[in-house]
Amino acid sequence: MNVYDTERMVDVMAPEGYDQVNTPEGADLVVLNTCHIREKAAEKVYSDIGRIRKMKDAKKKRGEEMVLAVGGCVAQAEGAQIMKRAPIVDMVFGPQTYHNLPKMVEKSISLKERGQKSRILDTDLSVDEKFQQLSKKAVKKKSTAFLTIQEGCDKFCTYCVVPYTRGAEFSRDIEDVMEDAKKLAAAGVVEVTLLGQNVNAYHGRSKGSDEWGLPELIRQLAKVDGFERIRYTTSHPHDMTDELVKVHADVKECMPYLHLPVQSGSDKILKAMNRSHNSSSYKKIINQLREIKPDIAISGDFIVGFPGETDEDFEETMKLVRSVTYAQAYSFKFSPRPGTPAAIMDGQVPEEVKSLRLTRLQALLKEQQIAFNKSVVGKTLPVLIENTGKTEGSAFGRSPYMQAVQVNIGDASFDDLNGKIFNVNIKESGPFNIQGVLA
Ligand code: 5AD
Ligand code: SF4
Repeated sequence: MNVYDTERMVDVMAPEGYDQVNTPEGADLVVLNTCHIREKAAEKVYSDIGRIRKMKDAKKKRGEEMVLAVGGCVAQAEGAQIMKRAPIVDMVFGPQTYHNLPKMVEKSISLKERGQKSRILDTDLSVDEKFQQLSKKAVKKKSTAFLTIQEGCDKFCTYCVVPYTRGAEFSRDIEDVMEDAKKLAAAGVVEVTLLGQNVNAYHGRSKGSDEWGLPELIRQLAKVDGFERIRYTTSHPHDMTDELVKVHADVKECMPYLHLPVQSGSDKILKAMNRSHNSSSYKKIINQLREIKPDIAISGDFIVGFPGETDEDFEETMKLVRSVTYAQAYSFKFSPRPGTPAAIMDGQVPEEVKSLRLTRLQALLKEQQIAFNKSVVGKTLPVLIENTGKTEGSAFGRSPYMQAVQVNIGDASFDDLNGKIFNVNIKESGPFNIQGVLA
């Protein structure tokens, strides 16, 4: 979602004459769009600020100004501390106020010109106005795009900052989503990824009286001319309804890939996490999905070392992974986030134990990812070509299962292939990608 938000920041600044550059060196405006989900992400912000400070000072010596802004969830959670700890920062804004970026930048510059203190803090949490403002922007030509349909979360998993930094669950109105979707299709988008922290809790209202859940939204989006692939992320097992499972079988545009975080295989830990599923209800969903869509690729998120996690609890996670078998996954050491219940729970697990468990879990997940990639060797898969490849005569694309694919395109011109779907004979596989030739 931060990638999506960053793209929107570029959109809102474009009419002001700002363009995206590849390096912060010499830029007139630098925005650090931050993530607060785990400790490392927050620490990174301060080291980045230190790095940018040197560039800002160098620019000042040349008599020019650089505006330094910190946006995103670290800004939302620690805005006042950032202002205090890093006086070099001109502007701090949360994930729900970045549509005001042009006004904030203008204000900061004009205050500076008048020699006044020019620092701005805007961490309001109301979402609706943001989407209203953003929808008015034109869309650049491209083949894949994110589309935020839902934001925030009311689930309050005990380890998670999202309900505090992104705010309460909010679903965008149906008409607004459909209007944005049609603009994307008109700009050449072939694959759309619907975004939300709790995307399958989507319940958009219509200006009439309808209310659509995610299943209906996907069915309607599949009818939009141009969309050949629809994905959605991130889902919660609690909201994985039978109807949504069925969409994977009925709607050919709905890709055979699902990111469905489980977090742990221990029912005791899942309860302490305030997840409203247990290991068997999770496995039941996976079985239902595989029954109607046998080739569906499953991805997940895991946290090891949650407070109170014993060796036996961790073995339950390993057992669940062996029984589900993942095509790919993300796994993390539990990171106590200030203000969340789990941060002060009894039974905090020592770092060394977390590290050992993470190493074992990641080895198993990697093994499964390698096996999944190997399982498509010898098959012909439709690949959406998205970029040039690493070498001359090759292109980069994605399989329906989200695998990164290096495609040998021979003498074909990349520009002719870009943004279109082609059949590719898969010849080789590795842990992180698969390789093939145009069929
Ligand atoms: N510590 C470790 N991992 C976390 N996640 C969320 N909060 C924490 C935390 N405090 C992970 C979860 C979630 C993913 C986006 O980040 O696995 O699904
Ligand atoms: Fe965080 Fe996801 Fe739980 Fe919401 S459902 S609190 S976003 S982990």
